Order: sequence, then C-alpha cells, then structure tokens
Amino acid sequence: MPATIIVGAQWGDEGKAKVLDALMPDMDIVVRYQGGSNAGHTVVVGTERYAFHLVPSGILHDRKVCVIANGCVVEPVELMKEIDALRARGVRIDGSNLLLSERAHLVMPYHRLTDQMSEKRKESSGEGKIGTTGRGIGPCYVDKVARSGLRAIDLLRPDYFLLRVTQRLAELNPLLTAVYGVEPLDPKKVADEVLAFAPRLKPFIADTAAYLNGALAQGKALLLEGAQGSLLDIDHGTYPFVTSSNATSGGATTGTGISPRKITLAVGVAKAYVTRVGSGPFPTELTEKVGEGLRQRGVEFGTTTGRPRRCGWFDAVGIRYAVEVSGIDAIALTKLDVLTGEPEVKLCVTYDIGGRRVERFPCDHQALAAATPIYETMPGWNESIESVRSFAKLPPAARNFVKRIEELAGVPIRYVGVGRTRDAMIRRGKK
Ligand code: GDP
Ligand code: IMO
Ligand code: MG
Repeated sequence: MPATIIVGAQWGDEGKAKVLDALMPDMDIVVRYQGGSNAGHTVVVGTERYAFHLVPSGILHDRKVCVIANGCVVEPVELMKEIDALRARGVRIDGSNLLLSERAHLVMPYHRLTDQMSEKRKESSGEGKIGTTGRGIGPCYVDKVARSGLRAIDLLRPDYFLLRVTQRLAELNPLLTAVYGVEPLDPKKVADEVLAFAPRLKPFIADTAAYLNGALAQGKALLLEGAQGSLLDIDHGTYPFVTSSNATSGGATTGTGISPRKITLAVGVAKAYVTRVGSGPFPTELTEKVGEGLRQRGVEFGTTTGRPRRCGWFDAVGIRYAVEVSGIDAIALTKLDVLTGEPEVKLCVTYDIGGRRVERFPCDHQALAAATPIYETMPGWNESIESVRSFAKLPPAARNFVKRIEELAGVPIRYVGVGRTRDAMIRRGKK
C-alpha cells in the first residue's frame, strides 16, 4: 500500500488526526499536503492532549518521518512555536524526522493583516464575513497564484527575499492605507522579521517531492494527511464559504509531487453528526437544545480559534458528494459516542429545495441555504459505548445507525470512533 490519503469528508474537524494516529503503526512517512495553521488537529494520549496546526501529528510516533509538503502554507513564527512547544513536551524533532518543502509558500505578516482587515471590512459593510481563522491563509494562497509569493527556499537567500517583499509591498501598501486605513509596512522590517527564523528553519528545508518519490521507490508506506474537509475545498466546497486550498484528495497529488497512480486508498473521515465553524450554509444545523447537547458532549469548540462549532445531524447528501469528489474508498466514522443518550437520531437523506427533491449537493450556496433536510429518524441508545472495541458489541441501535450511514454513503465504514482517547476506536473488516 504505497500511499494512503486521510481526507475530511465534511466541513473540517472530523477527527482526522485521531484516525491518522491509529493508522500510523503501519506507515513510514506522514505528509501534510495543503492548508496552514488554520488547521487544528487533536490527539489525546491518556490524559495528555496534543493540538497540531502545521506539524503532522505522526511526530508523536517514533522512527516516522513527517513532511510539510509544497501544497502547504507556512508561517515561520508559527511553525517554530509549534516545534518548540512539542520539544518542551519531550517530542524529538530535528531535520531527520521533520521536513519542510522548499516549495511551500510562506505566510507573511501582511497576509495575516489583510485576512483580518478584509474580514472586518466585510462584516462592517454588511457584505458578510467568511469567518476565517484569521491566520492569513487566503491572502497567502492569493499571492501564490498571483506569482507574488515567497517560498521556504527564499529564506535561504536574504537579498532575493527582501527584493520580493519590496515588490509585493509596492502594490500592497497603497491598498493597506486606502482601503484598510493602516500604516504602510516597511519592506526591510518585514523581511528581517521573517528572515530571523531562517537559521532555525534551515535544517528542515528540503526537496520533499524528491524525498517522497525516492521513499515510494524503496517501498515505504506514506500517509497523506489532508487538512480541513471536502466541503471546504476551494473548488468543490460551499464557495465562497471555503478555505483557499484543495482539501479534497486531488490536493494530495499537486500538494506533494506524488503521482495519483501511487495513491491506493483514500480514507474519508466523518463525524456521526456534522459540525461547521465560520459562516456558510449548513442544512442540518441544529440551533436549539439538541445542537447545544452535541456541542457540550462533543466538546465542539475550535482547536485553533476556540470558537463554538455549529452542530447538526448527519448529512448523507454531503457525504455522498464528498465520497465522489474525494474518491473515498472507506469511511472512518468518529464521535459515535457523542450521540449516546439521544432518544432518537436523525439522518438527512435528501434535500427539499423549493419543493423539489434534490439528491445532489448543489453548487449554489444560496440553494444550499434554502434546503430543507428530509430526515430518516432512528431509535437512539443509552448505553455507554466508550469501552466497546468490537462492532458486534455495540448496542443494536448504534449498529443500525452506522450501517444505515454506510448504505447511504455507498462505501464501507472501516473505523468507528467511540471516545476521545487514542485507543477508543473500533476496526471493522479488512484495513
Ligand atoms: P481534525 O481537525 O479533523 O483532526 O479534528 P479536531 O482535532 O479539530 O476535532 C476533533 C475532536 O474530536 C478532537 O477534540 C478529538 O480529540 C475528538 N475526537 C476524535 N474522535 C473522537 C471520538 O470518536 N469520540 C469523541 N468523543 N471525540 C473524538
Ligand atoms: P482542520 O484541519 C474546520 C474554516 C474556517 C472558515 C473557512 C475559511 O482542523 O479540520 P481560513 O482561515 O481557512 O481562510 O477559513 O474555513 N476552516 C476550518 N474549519 N477545521 C479546519 O481545519 C478549518 N480550517 C479552516 O472556520 O469557515
Ligand atoms: Mg480541526
């Protein structure tokens, strides 16, 4: 099994890190392929909780190599902070077990600034904000596509770095002052602030595509870790309420430099319900008691921003779409335990939009916002399932719920999450 993808099948925070952690023993290398420190990936080991933003959570496993690949956007100060915090907790990180692609784009201080200013402007003008994480992700990818970005390799050539910053700010400063009313930025100051991290980051910077293709040629097993989720994908998600990269499986090839022919399995991660942070349509959202119950029991507060996550019933229209656009072969269904105690559990099987039954996830976010979910209601269960480790031992109502999701999604559910900790996972069938 050369390369396996872990991809979010909803709007992010599906529990990707926990599933990745469970698959790590069979892997040699774990690779983040897109996104930046907007991601927050949690692994709970006993009483210890680790929250990752840029560093793949595989770093907790000995003798594995972690790669931050070219599709990612990296803020040097954030990456160093994360490395230092992990080292302080006893995690070994050096240039032999963490690699940063020389082609990864850098999130610059002005990206964070424009992200936050743009959100503020959108909110105050009544246009409506996206609800970004404010980490500068969108503006960094804008510069990448506009060919005005800086890459990790540029940290190693300070003169060129300063030239590129100067050129970028020549365009950006007038915008910052005229539209956002902030002081123009001094290119030298900005460049120096970021270049200060160059000596510490240098040992990690590498040609990661060459490394990964070499590893594949030697028969190593790769795990390609997506951030965010398929419905937040820039192309396939609920545009414009999306992130600025390809979170779907396709991002794993352009984001790493690995041929799609090397990818043999895509595991989609989905919660047994749905959550979303930030703005945008969410047909099955529960705004009252049941939603609040899920938020409290599921501890649904953002790993990166602490914002309360919006919660709702499982949406089979969304999952069918994610299975299709991310080529998902198997699902890891997380947080089944959070539904324990609900007298009945619901599944949205189709939408009603303007009196028409709609089976396919619509492109138009206004149509999605107008969608009324059509639910199937199933009996709930009361027994605690956190210590259950075999599917056959789950209460029948929980088993039926999982099986019905499997039927609606059209792919097998191979893993079922039953609790927060690392080992709280049921494996079904072949891996
Ligand atoms: P990611 O971004 O997809 O890696 O997910 P996050 O880490 O942002 O959010 C998932 C949250 O759910 C984390 O706090 C996990 O510890 C937690 N979690 C993952 N799987 C399970 C599960 O099966 N049951 C429960 N109760 N919590 C889970
Ligand atoms: P992980 O990897 C959930 C959401 C933001 C916002 C939109 C755009 O932990 O699943 P951005 O800062 O990316 O420009 O914000 O995307 N978002 C996430 N939601 N989980 C994430 O990452 C997210 N990363 C971004 O809330 O709605
Ligand atoms: Mg998360």
